[in-house]
This record gives sequence, structure tokens and C-alpha cells, in this order.
Amino acid sequence: MSDTVASLYGGPAGKRVRTRDLQLAKERGEKWAMLTSYDQYTARIFDDAGIPVLLVGDSAANNVFGYETTLPVTVDQLIPLVRAVVHGAKRALVVGDLPFGSYEESPAQAVRTSVRFMKEAMCHAVKLEGARRDAIQAITGAGIPVMAHIGFTPQSEHLFGGYRVQGRGEDAKLLVEQAHTCYEAGAFAVVLEMVPGEVAKQITEEIPVPTIGIGAGPDTDAQVLVWQDMAGMRVGGGPVPRFVKRYANLAEELSKAVHAFADEVRDGQFPTQDHTF
Ligand code: KIV
Repeated sequence: MSDTVASLYGGPAGKRVRTRDLQLAKERGEKWAMLTSYDQYTARIFDDAGIPVLLVGDSAANNVFGYETTLPVTVDQLIPLVRAVVHGAKRALVVGDLPFGSYEESPAQAVRTSVRFMKEAMCHAVKLEGARRDAIQAITGAGIPVMAHIGFTPQSEHLFGGYRVQGRGEDAKLLVEQAHTCYEAGAFAVVLEMVPGEVAKQITEEIPVPTIGIGAGPDTDAQVLVWQDMAGMRVGGGPVPRFVKRYANLAEELSKAVHAFADEVRDGQFPTQDHTF
């Protein structure tokens, strides 16, 4: 590993990862991982593990609030979660996801919402869905870095008719054009969700800023997963998507701990003198 590689994945604590560090990682061909986070403890754990970018996704709608889609979650619900992650992460760049309805009306609305995220949640960048040239230009024009998100964009799931791969066949050209639009408008990175691996590879080769794949194959510059999916914390809510790899079974571990606690209380084994003042 070169020195610069070490600086993205395990650099000095307290030196915040910047969008420029991600750009440099792309230039030297270093891949990296992004995770969602919605609270201070996971932010701390992921940050300590060297994850350079944490996304407080609007997927909090499903994974925190228990909604069926991402559509109902609001700016007022997300901002406290973003603030908690910012408090927990000393090094990672924290991205706040603009929820459905908070940026589509006009570039002015997009700037207003982004400014709220930056002022009230103190995150370091925002993310929005769609190749929205005007909104991306307006937000970056206000000094706020923007991560774009194209392909399958969950806020438009009713328009897409469900969770469907985007950019297949003739639609590939449109997807590539959208990626260029995001880059030209000033996005510092582009999330590619549920798109054919070959198209993701082409986009990654063509645009100078990092691509972050989720269900987009192995050739993007970075990969993102929802942490509860990756760590086996998801219970209910339908099948886990095919693009997810589960690295742990935290739901089972937690359930074991809860059963042990409940049993010990019932049997009078907890608390003991050690836990008593
Ligand atoms: O909201 C989210 O978690 C996301 C990622 C899955 C990219 O948009």
C-alpha cells in the first residue's frame, strides 16, 4: 500500500476526509467503502474502522422509522440523525441525504434545504436523487458539495413500477448521459444503484469523479451498502436484495443477548451484588 492509500482508509484520527481525498483515490485507483449510519454509535464504530464516507440516507425511512418506502421521511426527521452521526464520526466525511419533496420544486428550494442540513446537522455534503443539473449547480454554487444518485432512485419507485434495474439495453445511453450531467453540474461523486455492471464500468471510466455502486457490479470506484443489510440487522421488511452481502448476523446476536437478560431477570440471577449500590 502506498502512503496515500493509507491516508484514505486509515489516516490520522481528527483529519477529516475531504471530497478531494476521494478524487485523489480515484486517480490512483484505490477503491473504498461507504456505509449508511443513522446514530452516534454506528458512526463511531464505522469511523474507527476507517470507513471514509458515511451516508445518513433517506433509507432511514425504512431502517429507522419502519416506513415501507423512503417517501414519507422528512427533513425534520433526518436532521437529528445526521447531527448524531456527525458527532460520532471524527474522521469520515458525512453526507446528509435530501429527502423526497425537499429539493425538486426549484434550485432555490434545493439550496434552502441543503443549507439547513449544513447549518443544523453540520454535515459535510448532501446527496440528491436524479441528474438534476440546475439543483446540483445551485447547491454547489452555494458552497455545498453534492453527491448525485442515478439509476434506480428509490424516491421514484412508483414511477419506475417497483425495484427494477435501470439502464438496460437502449436506456444505457441515457444513464451514461445522466452521469455526465451530474459531473458537469459539479457533483463530487455519483451513486449508481441497480444498474448493469457493464454500464457502471463505462460510466466509471468516462467521468472523472468517483462512482459509488450499489448493485452496480465490481467496477465502480467505491461500494455502498445499508449497514443493517450488511450486518444482518434487518428483520422483516421483505427479502434482502441480491446485491447485498451479509457480513454478520447481528439480529441473532442481539436476540441471544435479550433472551439471556430476560431469563436472568426472571430467574433472579440479575442483578447480583456486583450490580448493586
Ligand atoms: O438512502 C440510502 O441509503 C441510499 C444509499 C443506499 C445509496 O441512498
